[in-house]
Amino acid sequence: MKRPLGLLHLIIVFCVAASTVTCFRENKEGKEKGKAKWVIGMSQCNLGEPWRVQMNADIKKAAEAFPDLEVIFKDAQNDNLRQRAHVEEFVSTGVDLIIISPKEAAPLTPPVSEACRKGIPVIVLDRRVLGEDYSCFIGADNKKIGRAAGRWIVERLGGKGRVVELKGLMTSTPGQDRHSGFVEGTRGSAIEVIFEADMKWLEPNARQEMESALARFAKIDLVYAHNDPGAHGAYLAAKAAGREKEIIFVGIDGLPQEGQVYVRQGILAASFEYPTGGKEAIQTAVDILNGKKVPKEITLQSRVFTAENIENGGEWLKE
Ligand code: FRU
Repeated sequence: MKRPLGLLHLIIVFCVAASTVTCFRENKEGKEKGKAKWVIGMSQCNLGEPWRVQMNADIKKAAEAFPDLEVIFKDAQNDNLRQRAHVEEFVSTGVDLIIISPKEAAPLTPPVSEACRKGIPVIVLDRRVLGEDYSCFIGADNKKIGRAAGRWIVERLGGKGRVVELKGLMTSTPGQDRHSGFVEGTRGSAIEVIFEADMKWLEPNARQEMESALARFAKIDLVYAHNDPGAHGAYLAAKAAGREKEIIFVGIDGLPQEGQVYVRQGILAASFEYPTGGKEAIQTAVDILNGKKVPKEITLQSRVFTAENIENGGEWLKE
């Protein structure tokens, strides 16, 4: 027998519905004439590095194929508070979808979560936030990259050697994963990390840290840097000390105009590709805006570039 809903029952149903994070907005018809139908807010954590400039360029180019889209770009200049304010601003101005490449996980989680709660879909690109309050995460597998780099280094050094590890910002998820992957990839070998430092993804910091490493250690076999700017900074420090020829440099990002050039020039022995995901973010945004269901996570594939394979377009990472 059916009973009519009591007031208490109605209140409970309402509260549950209100607390469910939908990260989804109803489909809608075109807005004012001459204006794009959909507005996307793109929050970039900084534009000081070539890789991030490339990500924005990839987003812009992909969005040009969709006349219904307008993308508003904001640059947080490597400042969590500024990035947080950008996301809040996107929410208050009522954009249709947010793409964010966050600086650090913890400080950017609350505004992303809040946007989601207000029904604005959020695509998180490259670095993660904490928890599950977002629509889709897009990025390459940093642990796999770190592991592949570790294995490559073990092989290149014949199983043993003295390594400097220059880490990316360790409060950002790629830094953590590129480190733990590397630890896995070198496990069981006689690779010894003699010096490690957090260079926070920045070339000048990496150069400075490498100067300290060079001053302390007369023998360094290899530098594993979590990104190509870091590897290049370390190379410049070694060159200034006249020691660049005795050290092998390995980086991550593999941009055609950066890491791949360093490999061609013989500055880096290897660069592991870290795709920006810009194109995939726009495709996913369009799917979400058109009411399609998208996967919670999209994992991008990476290649490794070395002197041996670069003319053939590098080699895809396996497993
Ligand atoms: C740019 C960058 C890249 C790196 C990525 C990790 O800010 O440091 O070099 O691969 O961020 O999030």
